Amino acid sequence: MHHRVVELRCEYLENPLAVDNPNPRLSWKIASERPNCKQEAYQIQVASKTELFDVGNANLWDSGEVTGNQCLDVRYKSDQLQTTDQAYWRVRTKAFGEWSEFSETALWECAIVDRNRWHSKWISFPFAGDWTVSQPAQIVRKAFDLPQNRIYRARLHISAQGIIKPFLNGDWATDAEFLPGWTDYNHRIPYETIDVTNLLKTGRNVVGGVLGDGWHCGQVCWFGRNQYGSYPIGLLRLSIEFEDREPMLIGSDATWKAAECAIRSNDLIQGESFDGSKLWSDAWKAEFDDSEWQYARAASLGQVQLTSRSSLPCRVTEKLKPIEVIEVSKTVRIYDFGQNHTGNLELSTGDSSISELTIRHAEILDSNGEMYIENLRAAKATDSVSNLGSNQRWNPQFTFHGYRFAEIESKSPQEFLESVTSRVIHSDMKRTGWFSCSDPLLNRLFENIVWGLRSNFLDVPTDCPQRDERLGWTGDAQVFASTAGYIYDVAAFFENWLEDVNSATSDSGIYPNIAPNLLELGQGAPGWADAGILVPFSLFQTYGNTEHLSNCLPTMERYVRTILKSNSDGLWKNLRSHDFGDWLSIGEETDKTLIATAFLINNMRLLSFRAGINLLREWRVSMEAFEREFMESGRLKHETQSGYALTLAFRIGKPKTWPSMAHRLAQIIEENGCQIATGFLGVSHLLPVLSEFGYFDLCYKLLMRKEFPSWLYPVTHGATTIWERWDGWTEEKGFQDPGMNSFNHYAYGSVGEWLFEHIGGIQPLTDHHGFSHFRLAPTPGGDLAWAKVRFDSRYGTIRSDWNYGLDGFSWEIEVPPNTSAEVLLPPLESKANWQLDGNTLRTKVSNFGGSKRSSVLLNSGIFRLSTR
Ligand code: BGC
Repeated sequence: MHHRVVELRCEYLENPLAVDNPNPRLSWKIASERPNCKQEAYQIQVASKTELFDVGNANLWDSGEVTGNQCLDVRYKSDQLQTTDQAYWRVRTKAFGEWSEFSETALWECAIVDRNRWHSKWISFPFAGDWTVSQPAQIVRKAFDLPQNRIYRARLHISAQGIIKPFLNGDWATDAEFLPGWTDYNHRIPYETIDVTNLLKTGRNVVGGVLGDGWHCGQVCWFGRNQYGSYPIGLLRLSIEFEDREPMLIGSDATWKAAECAIRSNDLIQGESFDGSKLWSDAWKAEFDDSEWQYARAASLGQVQLTSRSSLPCRVTEKLKPIEVIEVSKTVRIYDFGQNHTGNLELSTGDSSISELTIRHAEILDSNGEMYIENLRAAKATDSVSNLGSNQRWNPQFTFHGYRFAEIESKSPQEFLESVTSRVIHSDMKRTGWFSCSDPLLNRLFENIVWGLRSNFLDVPTDCPQRDERLGWTGDAQVFASTAGYIYDVAAFFENWLEDVNSATSDSGIYPNIAPNLLELGQGAPGWADAGILVPFSLFQTYGNTEHLSNCLPTMERYVRTILKSNSDGLWKNLRSHDFGDWLSIGEETDKTLIATAFLINNMRLLSFRAGINLLREWRVSMEAFEREFMESGRLKHETQSGYALTLAFRIGKPKTWPSMAHRLAQIIEENGCQIATGFLGVSHLLPVLSEFGYFDLCYKLLMRKEFPSWLYPVTHGATTIWERWDGWTEEKGFQDPGMNSFNHYAYGSVGEWLFEHIGGIQPLTDHHGFSHFRLAPTPGGDLAWAKVRFDSRYGTIRSDWNYGLDGFSWEIEVPPNTSAEVLLPPLESKANWQLDGNTLRTKVSNFGGSKRSSVLLNSGIFRLSTR
C-alpha cells in the first residue's frame, strides 16, 4: 500500500469524550512515502462498538465512497448522537487509484446534550463567613459502594464556579489544571469529562473534589474579588456503565459531605497558603471517615449554560530545574529557573520537615540582585507553606505566577528542601512549528516568542501572566494570532475564546476590548475590538475551517455596519471607546483616526472580498475619505512607520501608489537609523509589508539590529521572553515605569510570522485556506548560512531547510500529501543553474513583489533543490 490514513481528529481533538455538536466534524491526515499523493476518494465508517467493524456493520454511518480530496472537517451526516453516545470511527482513502487499509479506530463521545441527564447539583461547604477575602479551599466528597461487576466505562463530568481539582480513590482524577478554565461565566460554564474506568474498584470508593476561588470568586485583574460570584461551588457527575447490569449515576447533591482543607487561602493573583497540619490527602481515600463532616449545601443547576470544553485543558507541560541557587542569607534563597514562564513551584522535603516557608516570584532581578517585584503592581504572587512533613511533595493548586526567579524564605536555616522545581503550565496544545537558523540570537528570539506564547495561552490568550492584569486583551491576540498559528495548534483554543469575544458584543454589535469581558474595559477600541474579525480570518487562513468563519460572519457584518452608522463620512471617528492607538509605540504617534479608519477599511475588505458580504460601496467611501484626509500626492500627510505599515497591509489607496508608499516607508525607516518605531498595531505588519515590496535587506537590518530599540536588544540583555515595551529596560535608563512593564507580553513577538514566511518561506495563499495549496519562498539574507523551518499544517508537515554557502544554495522541502506548493526560487545573485533531485529544473518566471522570480509547482513529496 502506498499510503495510509493517520491522526484522526473529531472537532480538532483526538478521541474527545464530550462533543457538544451531535454531528461533529471529522478530519484526518494521509501519510505516504510516494510523491504526488492526492486523495481521490474517502470512506468513513462509524459504529457504536468497535467489534461491529469486524462483522462489517458500521451501524451508525457509512459514508460510502465519496469522491474528492476533502480530508478536513467532513461532517458526520447521520442520525444525531444523544447524550454520552459513543461513536467509533475509521476512514480509508483512495490515492494512486487504490484504497488504503482502514485507519486505526478512533472514538468520540457525545456530550451531555440533554440537560436533564445531569442529575447533579452545584455543591459547596456551607460556610457563612466573609467571602470578600479568600477563605480556605473546600473538599466535597461522596463515598459509595460498587458491586462486583465488570465496568464497561466510567466517566466523571466536573465543573465549578471557581476551580475544581477532582479526586477518586486516593489520587487526583486528572492531571489537568485550573478546571474548568476561564470563560465568560455569565454566559457559559464549561465542564470537563474524564475517563475514570480504570480508577474504580469493587467495594468502597470515593469521588470528590477540592474547590478553590479561581477567576469566578478570586481576584481578576485589578478589579478585585467576586467578579462572578462570592464563593466557589462544584458540580460532579460520575456515571458508571457495567457490562452486565444497570448503570449507576452518582451526582453531587446534599448527601455529599464537605469540609475546609489545608489550603488556607487561594487566589490566582495573590497566591496560595497551605498548612500541612490541616485536612488534606487522607480525605480522598475511600476508607477515610467523614462522619463528622457537614453535609454539602446544594443548589439546582439553574439557568447557566453548561458546555463541554472544546479546547484542551491546561497541564504541566515541562518541569524546570533551577540553573542557579543564590544564597541571599541563611534563610533566604533565590532559585533561578533560567527561563521566564508561567506556572508554580513543586517542593519536596527530604528527611527534615518544614515549619514555615514563604515563596515570592519575580521575572527579573534588579541591579542589586534582588527580586524585582514592583512591576507586579498589586499582585502579591506569594505562596506560603507551613507544617510540611518529611518526604512530602507540595505544589499550589489554585494559583499560578509569571516568573523566572523564586525566592524562598524559611523560618530557620535548618529547614532544607530536598528539591525545588518549577512546573510550566499552559493550555496543552499540540506543538506545530519550529524554527532554527545559523544565527544564535535569532534562535533565542524565536524561543522567546515561543515562551511568550506558552506563558500567556493559559485557557485564554492573556496580555501577561504576572501582574494584576492577565486579561484576554483582544488587540494583543489579533496581533499575535498568525504567529501563534504556526507554533502551536491554536484552532480550538482561539475558537473557544472567540465565543466569549462574540457573546460580549454590545447591544449594538460592538466587539469588546477584552474577553472574557468585564465591562470596565469597554468595547470598540480600534485594533482591539477588530480582533472579532481578524482572529477568525487568521484561523481560517491557517486551519481552513469554513464553518467557523461563516458562523462568525453575521456578528462581523453587524459590527462594521454599526460603526458605519455612526460614521457616515467613512472615517471612523465616533464610537471608539478606549482609544489605545498604536499602543506603546516609541516612535512618533500615528493619528488615531487614521489607525481606526485603516482597520475599518480592512474589515470591509476582508468581508467583501473574502467572505462575499457586500460592503463594497461603503469600502470605497471609506477609502476615498482616507485618501482625502490622510494622503497627499501618493504619500501619507503625516508619515509614520505604523501609518504606512497599516495603509499598505490593508491595501488602502490606489494600487499604483503602493510601491512609492513602500519606498517612503523604507526611506523613513532608514532616516530613522534603521530603527523600529512602531507600537502594538504597526509591528506585525512592518516586515511583511516591506518584504512584499522587495525591501528584504531592510527587513534583515531591522530584524538583526542589536542596539536599542530592536527585537534583539532584549535578547542581548538576557531576555528569555518578549517584553511588553521596547524600552522595558535599557542600559541608559534602567527599568521603565513599573506601573506598566511586563517582561512577558507576546505582542512584539508577532514578528514570528515573518520568520516562518520569509526566512523559512512557508506562506499561505489566501485563495487556498488551511494550506491546501501554499507557497514556499524563502529569501535568504542577513548573512544567514542556513535555516530549518517546519510547520505541521492540518494536512501534514511542511518543511523548508536551506543552506547557503560557497558551494551554492541547497534546499530540502517537504510538501504534505493532498496539497501542492508553488515553489519560488530564492533570488540569488549569480545566475543559478537549478536542479531538482539531481535533474535540471524547468521553471516559469513570474512577477513577485515587483521583481521577477522563477517558480515551479510541486505536488506532495520530499524534494531537494540546489544550484550548481
Ligand atoms: C495591556 C495591553 C493591552 C492594553 C490596552 C495593557 O494594560 O497589558 O497588553 O492591550 O492595556 O492598551
